[in-house]
Amino acid sequence: MSKIFVDACKGKKTPYTPVWMMRQAGRYLPEYMEVRSKAGDFLSLCKDPQKACEVSLQPVDIVGVDAAIMFSDILVVPMEMGMELKFVKGEGPIFPNPITCMEDIEKLDVQKAANELEYVYETIRLIRSKLADDKALIGFCGAPWTLATYMIEGQGTKTYAKVKKLIYSNPKLMHALLSKVTEALKLYMANQIKSGADVVMIFDSWAAALEQSAYFEFSWNYIKELTSFLKSNFPDTPIIAFPKGISGYLDKIDGDFDVFGVDWSTPMELAKEKLGDRYILQGNMEPTRLYDKNAIDEGIDKVVKVMKNERHIFNLGHGILPDVPVENAKYFIKSVQAKTKNL
Ligand code: CP3
Repeated sequence: MSKIFVDACKGKKTPYTPVWMMRQAGRYLPEYMEVRSKAGDFLSLCKDPQKACEVSLQPVDIVGVDAAIMFSDILVVPMEMGMELKFVKGEGPIFPNPITCMEDIEKLDVQKAANELEYVYETIRLIRSKLADDKALIGFCGAPWTLATYMIEGQGTKTYAKVKKLIYSNPKLMHALLSKVTEALKLYMANQIKSGADVVMIFDSWAAALEQSAYFEFSWNYIKELTSFLKSNFPDTPIIAFPKGISGYLDKIDGDFDVFGVDWSTPMELAKEKLGDRYILQGNMEPTRLYDKNAIDEGIDKVVKVMKNERHIFNLGHGILPDVPVENAKYFIKSVQAKTKNL
């Protein structure tokens, strides 16, 4: 059976614009909180394929999205390469022993990571076996730059001081780390696709930290290396790239992928003008519009007016926040599906 989401990724005309939400499996759903508390904590949930499968399916069953995204986190890759990872309540993810030198990089184990991530592959196999035939399953990873930033900073950062100091003072070290992470991601994403992911997405959440020349040298080049590898091995699997916050650099975006994720700060008109002929666009309603139904209606209309159910996948321009009412999330999904029907 054809999957409307996969068809849209390939530029085929679909009966309506397929829609999903970044971070759709998460804390705004009471059903998610219940499964997480049974698992104990967030990482235990990621490592438990049965429960991870259950929370991945929740947004499909409860909210009505057109694709499931596997439940996991981008940071399990550096963790399984050998770095201790903690999720501290209120503070987000922390690597207590961040990377500081070449010796630390040499200790990272690419092959071990690809093997130890078996619980993710098992989660994918389980989801694919339970998901309806006409719904797509999205696998994902973090971009090498975003992962390396966490590995060097040790946690989220406002200034990116440590990682930026490194790219300007010791670019060789940074490239060594980025190359190693990219190698791990090639194996990881290949295994996700072999396990049943219909589409894969690369999250470059910290893209906007870099000036243009640095962005292309330290981030986009590695995304391109990863997507070329995947395209040559799995030509049929669509790839979504999501470099967040780089509207000023769109002219220079190229590479072997299918869908470009547009964040909420980039006007859809601009993305369409610069990239719409070459890539399918995904996005980009401002996620906090979900707090108010009138704001949702307005937000959808604004995007639909530009995209008109052509070469488009509907999404938020970043993740859904934990205190959004479930009813509003349902309203958003239903409204997109209704408003784009037969356009
Ligand atoms: O539904 C989905 O989108 C699938 C699951 C998913 C999670 N994280 C689950 C999660 C995905 C795709 C991610 C990606 C991710 N993780 C990114 C890239 C996307 C983005 O938002 O830019 C980043 C930067 C991370 C790192 C990360 N993981 C952070 C910063 C946090 C804390 C965020 C917070 O709001 O507290 C996490 C934890 C995390 N990952 C949660 C979930 C559902 C919350 C954990 C919980 O308390 O249950």
